[in-house]
Amino acid sequence: MGTAATATVAAEAVRRCHALAACSEEPGATTRTFLSAPMRDVHAHVTQWMTAAGMTVAVDHAGNIRGLYPGASPAAPRLFIGSHLDTVPHAGAFDGVLGVMLGIALVGSLDGRRMPFAIEVVGFSEEEGVRFRTPFIGSRALAGSLDDELLSRRDANGHTVADAIRAFGLNPSRVGEATADPGALAYLELHIEQGPVLDRRSLPLGIVDAIAGQSRLTLTFSGATNHAGTTPMAMRRDALAGAAEWITAVESAATAIEGLAATVGHIETTPNVGNMIVGRCDVSLDVRHREDQVRVRAYDDLLRRAGEIAARRGLVLAYQHHLDQRATPMDAALTTLLTRAVASSGAPFAHLTSGAGHDAMILAPRMPVAMLFVRSPGGISHHPDEAVAEADVAAALNAGLRFVDLLAAERR
Ligand code: GLV
Ligand code: MN
Ligand code: MN
Repeated sequence: MGTAATATVAAEAVRRCHALAACSEEPGATTRTFLSAPMRDVHAHVTQWMTAAGMTVAVDHAGNIRGLYPGASPAAPRLFIGSHLDTVPHAGAFDGVLGVMLGIALVGSLDGRRMPFAIEVVGFSEEEGVRFRTPFIGSRALAGSLDDELLSRRDANGHTVADAIRAFGLNPSRVGEATADPGALAYLELHIEQGPVLDRRSLPLGIVDAIAGQSRLTLTFSGATNHAGTTPMAMRRDALAGAAEWITAVESAATAIEGLAATVGHIETTPNVGNMIVGRCDVSLDVRHREDQVRVRAYDDLLRRAGEIAARRGLVLAYQHHLDQRATPMDAALTTLLTRAVASSGAPFAHLTSGAGHDAMILAPRMPVAMLFVRSPGGISHHPDEAVAEADVAAALNAGLRFVDLLAAERR
C-alpha cells in the first residue's frame, strides 16, 4: 500500500477511535465498563467496519466481538489481532480501542488478498478490571481460563460476571466456546505505549519484549466510628488515619526499589461524613515489577507494614487478593519477526518493557504473542488527554502489514 493510502486509512482509524469514545456510560466523558449498555453501540459500529473490511462478525459469550477474515484455505490456522474495547472511568479514546481499529484497518488494507492463515480481529470485552476489580475477562475467555470462580465475582452492586453476561443477552455457561483453537498461529497486539519513553526519544514505535507482572489487592482497615467533636484524639481508632499513614509508606517503599510501581488508586470510607470518625477504610493496592520475585516481596512487605500500623493504632486489618499476574515475556521468534517488519518499514523504534498490563499476557500461554507500541504524545494515558499522532498510527499500520507479509512468507 502506498504512503498516501496508508495515511488515509490511519486517519480513518483515528476518527473511529474518537467515534467510539462517544459511546459512554457518562455524558461528556468516556467510561465503558464490562458489557455496560454503550458496548452495544460500540459493537454496532465495529460490526459495520469489520464487515466493510471483508470479515464475518460474531460476538462470543464473554462479549468479545470477533471479525474473521478467511485464509487461503479453510484449514488455514488463525492469526489473532486484537485489544480491548472497555475503558477506565474518564478515559481517553485510544487505550485498547486503537489496537482494534488498527486490526480492522490492516485487514481492510489487504483488500481481499488471501494469506496462508485466517486473520481474526478481536475486540475484547474487558481488560481494565474496573467493574469486578479483576481484569482481562475477555482475553481469559479466548485463552480458555475464564472459570466459574471468575464468573461468580461480584461488582459493587452485588451482580456477578455471569449476571452481566446474561444482562447483555449472552449465555455464561457457553463462555468455553470462545476459547481459541489449540492450533492458533499467533496473537499480535497493537497498543499505545501509555508512557513517555518513546516520546522522550522521538520514536514513533516500540517493540515490547515483556510485560511487567502485577498484583491487585484491597486492604480494609477497621476501627471505630464516633463523634468528631467529643472523642479525644488519644481515644480514637480512626481507620482513615491508619490507611493514610500506610499509603505514604507505600509511596516511600516503592520509590526506594528500582523499577517498582505501587499505587493506591481507590479509597472508600465508612461513614463518609465530615463530623464522624471513619470506622472502616477500604483501599486498593496495585503493585507492578518486571521481576515476579521483587513484586511478591514488595506486596508482602507492604502488607506487613499495614499490619504493624493497624496494630499500633488499635485497628484490625483484613485484605483480599484479586489478581496475581506473572511478568510475561513476548514470544522470541514472533518478536524477531515483528522487529524485522518494523525495521524494514523504516520507522525508528526501540525495545521496551510494558508497565501496563495487556491482553497479550493472558494469551501468551495459549499461543505465541507479540506487541507493537505506538508513541503516546506527552506520555499521557488513562486520561481524557490521551493522544496519538496520525503519522505514528500510519507507521504502525505499515509495520503491521509488513509483519503479516513476513509471517505469510514464512508459512509458504
Ligand atoms: C491496564 O490498562 C493496566 O492497568 O495496566
Ligand atoms: Mn489497554
Ligand atoms: Mn488501560
